[in-house]
Amino acid sequence: MVIRTIFDILSFFLCCLSISKAVFLNGGFPLHQYTQYGRGLVLVGGGLEENNTEIYNAIVDMAGGKGKAKIGIINAASSDPVGAFQYYRDIFLHRYGALEANRIAIDLNHTSGNSDAAIVALVRQQTGFFFGGGDQQRVIESFILSNGKESPVLVALRERFNLGAVIAGSSAGTACQPASVMIRGGVSWDALRYGAYSKPSSSHPDDLVYNPNGGLAFLDNYVIDTHFSQRGREGRLIRLLCDTHDLHGVGTSRGFGVDENTALVVTHAGTDNVKGKVIGQHGVFFADVSKAVVDSRSHYFSVNGVRAHFLTHGDEINLNTMDITFSSAKTSMRGHENYDHALTTDDIFYGKSSNPNRKPEFTRVATSIFDARLDRSTFGDTYESRPRFRVTMSRVDGESEGWVERKGTFHSDITSYKNMHIEIKEK
Ligand SMILES: *[C@@H]1O[C@H](CO)[C@@H](O)[C@H](O)[C@H]1NC(C)=O
Ligand SMILES: *[C@@H]1O[C@H](CO)[C@@H](O)[C@H](O)[C@H]1NC(C)=O
Repeated sequence: MVIRTIFDILSFFLCCLSISKAVFLNGGFPLHQYTQYGRGLVLVGGGLEENNTEIYNAIVDMAGGKGKAKIGIINAASSDPVGAFQYYRDIFLHRYGALEANRIAIDLNHTSGNSDAAIVALVRQQTGFFFGGGDQQRVIESFILSNGKESPVLVALRERFNLGAVIAGSSAGTACQPASVMIRGGVSWDALRYGAYSKPSSSHPDDLVYNPNGGLAFLDNYVIDTHFSQRGREGRLIRLLCDTHDLHGVGTSRGFGVDENTALVVTHAGTDNVKGKVIGQHGVFFADVSKAVVDSRSHYFSVNGVRAHFLTHGDEINLNTMDITFSSAKTSMRGHENYDHALTTDDIFYGKSSNPNRKPEFTRVATSIFDARLDRSTFGDTYESRPRFRVTMSRVDGESEGWVERKGTFHSDITSYKNMHIEIKEK
């Protein structure tokens, strides 16, 4: 009887093991960080400064921690893959305590590496990956086979991701990650004026171009943009969502844009509980066009009812429901506004100015609404004309909220908002 029970316990245990093995496929057992983070990503908006300890420590931590993390560095986006590797290797090893930093040697000049058994084996030893910047289309061309299928190295990367190896990236290394349409380039005004194209045109370098096959597909349901407020990319993100949300398989009504030296840390990706937390210097802009109406009778692009959130340090969002939890360091601005009126601008998509302490124009105008006692809406116009577009932003009582960590001045305050309404149309 006793022997029988022990046998039962043993076989039950073995059965559980084989179930978890089946769940985690042929890649082996989950890494220890999987228990805490599930599938994780650290999506940096570019301009990552090497002294950004919060972001680098997050990457190393989600790769297993100091003295344990083995980071596979991928510079397929770069025009100088070897130099870029050396830069990141030194930072991860010598500044942030990774155990190893290994070059995953695949780039446009070495695409055959994507099917190389030795590189697949190297990928399988890593506990995290970092994709450097450059041009995100180069990443796609390096990792996707010419028949459209995933290369063996990409398959191995996905196995590691499913086991808890963090996928981190900066700039193009972030922009290449969506399952949805992938932004390739373009400027906000041109995007509003001419719309989104699936192929680049050498005579119109500022056109909004996207990859209709999507990115590497490590994150579902969002278009991903970078260098966001610093390059005034709100117009191009909103236009791309409006133009492509209906595309079969790759369309989505939601997107986000990560600012420079800032990251969205995603945990439990691929589950209902998928969360994003903002760390670093600036913010992450979220746009949702699911309730937006494009006026098809208008001569130029015209949209109303776009919902936008801007989250800053310590704020969290459930990426499934879009429920937002502001950082406990922030307080609601309602009833505590510092000004009577909101601001306006005649160059709404003007980003980084020569004064690094000044908020980019869109952020400056948008956050001012929540710091104004008397106004409920304001606007910014495009600098470019024919047509000049006007972006009207509104704070709707009972729906929109502004939260702030006061730092002494309007420009140094760390301000977030949710459910701001945006309308864009010819002025
Ligand atoms: C990080 O480096 C940048 C550029 O060198 C510098 O401007 C900034 O003050 C540094 N930040 C910290 C927190 O040391
Ligand atoms: C590919 O090789 C060419 C010619 O040697 C070189 O100019 C170019 O920079 C290389 N590109 C990459 C991505 O390494």
